[in-house]
Amino acid sequence: MTSTVLITGCSSGIGAATVKHFASQGWNVAATLRNPAAAPFDDSAGKVASFALDVTDPHSVAAAVAQAVERFGQIDVLINNAGYGLFGPFESATQEVIERQFQTNVFGVFAVTRAVLPHMRERASGVIINVASLTGLVAMPLYSLYAASKFAVVGFSESLSHELGPLGIRVKVFAPGAVATDFSGRSLVRTFEGDGGPYAQSIGKVMGVFAANRGTSNASTPEQLAQALYDAATDGSAQLRYVIGEDAKALMQTRKDIGEEALMGAMRQRFGLAG
Ligand SMILES: NC(=O)c1ccc[n+]([C@@H]2O[C@H](COP(=O)([O-])OP(=O)(O)OC[C@H]3O[C@@H](n4cnc5c(N)ncnc54)[C@H](OP(=O)(O)O)[C@@H]3O)[C@@H](O)[C@H]2O)c1
Repeated sequence: MTSTVLITGCSSGIGAATVKHFASQGWNVAATLRNPAAAPFDDSAGKVASFALDVTDPHSVAAAVAQAVERFGQIDVLINNAGYGLFGPFESATQEVIERQFQTNVFGVFAVTRAVLPHMRERASGVIINVASLTGLVAMPLYSLYAASKFAVVGFSESLSHELGPLGIRVKVFAPGAVATDFSGRSLVRTFEGDGGPYAQSIGKVMGVFAANRGTSNASTPEQLAQALYDAATDGSAQLRYVIGEDAKALMQTRKDIGEEALMGAMRQRFGLAG
């Protein structure tokens, strides 16, 4: 029987590339997105079905999962990919802005996982891959809320992997470094107005480092992420954590080599934030 993957956040970037990759490998793909009318992929081969799913709306989550099961009979792999970022000083983020970040990046992952789990449990088989971030392992300055949401996804995945392993369900978490999508254009929300007031100097320094890196950084392509997600879904292993991208691997190696405290110091130096 053909395997089926359900993916969230398929309107662009990593999600859209992953839809295409799984379909090219002969999988059925339940491609979910907030606005299926804007799906950037072709349904014509009959392998891909688009379903409306907003991870913050429990009704749309339940409906999309039910439709996917009805259409394809089963869900073998779930990829929780939908997400966006907050950038700016913690103090400038309103409670509403913070809650929205967690509703999407954390509670959204919980909601879709909870909806898919009974189907996987019934069959004692399945793989759940949560797309966190390198920022879920090492926090960059001025990303405190995005980092908190992705650290939450990493912790959730680790504990859940112990819980679901005995039931035949494997949980994995992705920690990609930079990926060349339009994330910083369309999915990065600033928490501050103007120059950020008392934080203006720090914001300027951090933005300067990121801007300088942009042209030169060895970001992964969304297609490389799609390939890595496919490989993780099909590798048959119990591996939990997948650090993706040369930049992410280099940073994790540095942390291993020099230790966590020294890395913190090096980062403060690099961003010009040493006290
Ligand atoms: N790009 C990077 O450098 C990078 C690095 C590490 C991790 N990541 C993670 O990778 C994932 C995908 O990001 P990307 O780079 O592919 O950026 P992207 O192209 O902007 O994709 C983000 C996706 O999330 C969807 N989304 C946002 N809120 C949603 C909601 N409430 N319900 C359903 N879908 C929602 C967006 O849908 P709409 O079109 O409806 O907004 C879009 O499809 C994110 O979780 C991100 O945190 C990205």
